[in-house]
Amino acid sequence: MCGISAVTGREDVVTILYESIRNLEYRGYDSCGLGVVSNGEVAVRKNTGGVEEVNKKEHLTHLRGTTGIAHTRWATHGRVTQANAHPHSSTDGRFSIVHNGIINNYEELRSDLKAQGAAFLSDTDTEVMAHLIAKSYEETGDVEKAFVAAIKHLEGSYAFCMVTPLAPGEIYCARLGSPLVLGAGKSVNFVASDVNAFLQHTRDALVMEDGEYAVVSPDAITVRKLADGSLVRRKPIRIEWDAETSKKGGYAHFMLKEIFEQPQTLRNALAATQEGVARMAGKIRAARHAYLMGVGTTHYVALAGQYFFSRLAGRHLPVVSSDEFVDLAVVDSQDLVMAVSQSGETFDTRRGIAFAKEKGASTAAIVNVMGSSLSMGVDEVIMQGSGPEICVVSTKAALAQMVILQRIALESALQEGRMDKAAYARAHQVLQAFPEQVSAVLNERSGFVRNLADRTAGYHNWLVLGRGIYYPIALEAALKLKEVTYLHVEGMPAGFLKHGTLALVDQNLMSWFLVPPTEEKELNQHTISALEEVKARGGPVIGLMFEDDQRAKRLLDFAIELPKVDPLVAPFLQLIVAQLFSYFTALKLGRSIDKPRNLAKSVTVG
Ligand code: M6R
Repeated sequence: MCGISAVTGREDVVTILYESIRNLEYRGYDSCGLGVVSNGEVAVRKNTGGVEEVNKKEHLTHLRGTTGIAHTRWATHGRVTQANAHPHSSTDGRFSIVHNGIINNYEELRSDLKAQGAAFLSDTDTEVMAHLIAKSYEETGDVEKAFVAAIKHLEGSYAFCMVTPLAPGEIYCARLGSPLVLGAGKSVNFVASDVNAFLQHTRDALVMEDGEYAVVSPDAITVRKLADGSLVRRKPIRIEWDAETSKKGGYAHFMLKEIFEQPQTLRNALAATQEGVARMAGKIRAARHAYLMGVGTTHYVALAGQYFFSRLAGRHLPVVSSDEFVDLAVVDSQDLVMAVSQSGETFDTRRGIAFAKEKGASTAAIVNVMGSSLSMGVDEVIMQGSGPEICVVSTKAALAQMVILQRIALESALQEGRMDKAAYARAHQVLQAFPEQVSAVLNERSGFVRNLADRTAGYHNWLVLGRGIYYPIALEAALKLKEVTYLHVEGMPAGFLKHGTLALVDQNLMSWFLVPPTEEKELNQHTISALEEVKARGGPVIGLMFEDDQRAKRLLDFAIELPKVDPLVAPFLQLIVAQLFSYFTALKLGRSIDKPRNLAKSVTVG
């Protein structure tokens, strides 16, 4: 969603502020702006476009000031226009704010405020807050009281930062339902949607919770409860992420960098707490129903987890997409709900967890972002340790989540006695050897994949097909290809094809098959049968297959041959190559790879 940032220091903070929204740009990138307290006012500059583009138009970096706010937007209310970009200010210009979230009752507030003389300049829900603060200030004559009183009128979700020349070195911020993290530096302090905004300056972060507000100055951070003003004492956490990881480091795009980082991502996922994995397996075993829940890519990750559990541990786990969870899941105190989330802030997934808690169920999560709402708000968490994922399109985080789910399934199989210790140890050897195999494939096959992507990028309609565990991989491959290329791509079980979708097949529809290894005889043969059905109807076929599969090779019009790996990790290898293929197709089509149109990294609204 939107990225918000605020900085206050003893010296000019404009460069820091500007860099902070560049680092948050993956949260939203249709417009942006910056406001600094300067000469008794808040100087605001904003416009439509990405951060660099707006800087060219508006010279954001020419502003000067020691306290300021900044925003990068993903539009929810109001079109993408200069007026709708943040910051928004009160009519007298004394209070300027940036916001992430949605104010549900903004229409009534707006008409009340208009009736009282407030001049609205935008169509956003956000602007009401600036006018509300100004109005409360008229009544209280106190900035903090005005800020708190204004917030209390709001219904919805928010993370706000506000600055005013009436308290020139201070940032006022509050959180309800949208993420907000405070960064504690030396004579400079930070507020932001996530730690990537300030990681270059400090790794000490204080995560705000819902219903709290804070007053931040260069030397002090005071957090209080909105309800009664009581002081909140919370120690900062140390963010163990390397700021360098959030830079492109010579790669043309973050997506490519993050795909190539995956050998290390795998090592980190394999190093993630064994005790945590064993505890999670125990919790799943103890639960009557253990639900897996995610949305978008993490829904497909959860589906992959479902296959691991069925096949390895003999346990069927219900999987429900987070956005449907409340309407579909039936949970009570005997159940466990386990969420999967890169950001740990996704609205739908947090809503599902809140619902599970309400019903008395235990909760758990696999999460990447340290200090995120989900990581702090569930009974049991496994931090996947993938480091910052900047590209809006998820790659390395999804792979790590699948590997962790496979580890939990293996552990469950061991605990259940379905797998003996020798088989369990063998599986772990396979996993340990995998990062090297991934490095080799990335280094040796990328050129070939690129070449093929160039040749097939002209197809506008695609099916991605897989069976068994390759079905969720096909769904994820389809999502990758569609979100980064804007092509029409549908993922589907290969066996489902003949039940209707076959009607679409002709020479213009490209079918992309994920062919399982030949060791998985039935899966392999059934997939190839579906492939033949497409060929028989004149449809072009591209396939990801393993080297010894002569039958698949004969049938495919375009084949990406992969070195043989153990069937346990074969779906992961196909996923990685599918990511690479999607990247190169998008490159050929000239797409905005790291920030595809209309998307945002972290969807914190419902
Ligand atoms: O941060 P989360 O993992 O909870 O995000 C879930 C989805 O919004 C996310 O996976 C989305 O589908 C991405 N665009 C996938 O590339």
